[in-house]
Amino acid sequence: MKENVHVLNHPLMQHKLTLLRDKTTTTKEFRELAKEVSALMVYEISRDTKLTEIDIETPIGKTKGMVLKNDIAVVPILRAGIIMAEGIVELIPTAKVGHIGLYRDPETLQPVEYYCKLPDNISSCHVFIVDPMLATGGSAVKSVELVKEHGATNIIFVCLISAPEGIKVLSDRFPEVPIYTIAIDEKLNSHGYIVPGLGDAGDRIYGTK
Ligand code: PRP
Ligand code: URA
Repeated sequence: MKENVHVLNHPLMQHKLTLLRDKTTTTKEFRELAKEVSALMVYEISRDTKLTEIDIETPIGKTKGMVLKNDIAVVPILRAGIIMAEGIVELIPTAKVGHIGLYRDPETLQPVEYYCKLPDNISSCHVFIVDPMLATGGSAVKSVELVKEHGATNIIFVCLISAPEGIKVLSDRFPEVPIYTIAIDEKLNSHGYIVPGLGDAGDRIYGTK
């Protein structure tokens, strides 16, 4: 396992991921679970976020305390990443949120960009790019390229399920970007879907199929 890859195997995350995989899970349940599991990931994915010391005054006296040094920017890859961002922002309410719109061309499996709006101060933010699925890695690579073009240097990639193919592609291109995932599945099928995976994340979240 490459050292930039972190597999989060907390029992609650594993449990919720199993429910997400289950094809009988309804759209309502899927949304709730995807949001909850993303919130659970926050403690692990923010472990390396930098702190700074400040002076404060409690009702009893003066002391020093630690606070986040930089803004956190959560950047979901549309559509499916939005539900993860919602879960994460519940625990980091001061986070900025950027959006990157990409879809995978079904023939070529290449990401096609249709939207990009990032916080003005992205260059000083700790950037969490979030997307439930890391499949071929094309969307992840494109997203990291975009946030880097806007000046970001401190970037992590967060997903629920990854394929070995996507981990390799992203790690080879950006070895400095940590990848956080709850599971590394077996492989991709001929349509670029993760096996066993959970199906099409966007369709399951939004009930579009
Ligand atoms: C899915 C998923 C990722 C991408 C992963 O989105 O949410 O963004 O595929 O595949 P890759 O690693 O091979 O690039 P999709 O393109 O289906 O768009 P959607 O979220 O709008 O449904
Ligand atoms: N996108 C998805 O939503 N699911 C996969 O398995 C692969 C890409």
